[in-house]
Amino acid sequence: MLGEQGEVIGLDFTAAMLEVARQAERKAALTTPIIWQEADAMNLPYPDECFDGVTIGFGLRNLPDIDQGLREMRRVLKPGGRLVCLELSHPTWPVFRHGHKLFVRFAVPSIGNLSRRGERNYQWLSDSLQRFPGAAELADRMLQVGLKDVEVHRLSGGIAAIHKGIRC
Ligand SMILES: C[S@@+](CC[C@H](N)C(=O)[O-])C[C@H]1O[C@@H](n2cnc3c(N)ncnc32)[C@H](O)[C@@H]1O
Repeated sequence: MLGEQGEVIGLDFTAAMLEVARQAERKAALTTPIIWQEADAMNLPYPDECFDGVTIGFGLRNLPDIDQGLREMRRVLKPGGRLVCLELSHPTWPVFRHGHKLFVRFAVPSIGNLSRRGERNYQWLSDSLQRFPGAAELADRMLQVGLKDVEVHRLSGGIAAIHKGIRC
């Protein structure tokens, strides 16, 4: 619960993406306005232990150093505060895992080749996902940066996952 004094801050380092977020906010007609900030998730412009919760959606995979991103989110959480991360992942069921691997490696870049503008984005999606750790490894890395009670919820056969953790 946000409460009457609660604030929500939305952060991205791309101004155009913040504009997309503002438009989505207007459509959603929220009761509490979101404070949008242009900043780097690798070096959050907030003091230690100032948030009750931090959430990141399809962002962690894009950071140049996942552990540094996790450390930063942990740093700004109050003790007992919760981190929730939604991100693409890798299926674990062997046959599906293999097919998904081939799809990400070969089909995703090919989809991008169909449009000039999409080419780099789809290649990035393919490369970043191939590099990204599986759900169990990500859970372990969350523990290593000082989060506890880490939970993993695999979605759609494991092609995405929600990770939750509490700041120690
Ligand atoms: C796939 S988009 C997801 C956007 C949004 N969270 C959503 O779910 O629709 C990834 C976003 O991460 C942002 N991003 C990547 N690296 C970042 C960083 N170091 N600091 C802040 N934002 C970053 C990009 O600008 C982009 O908007």
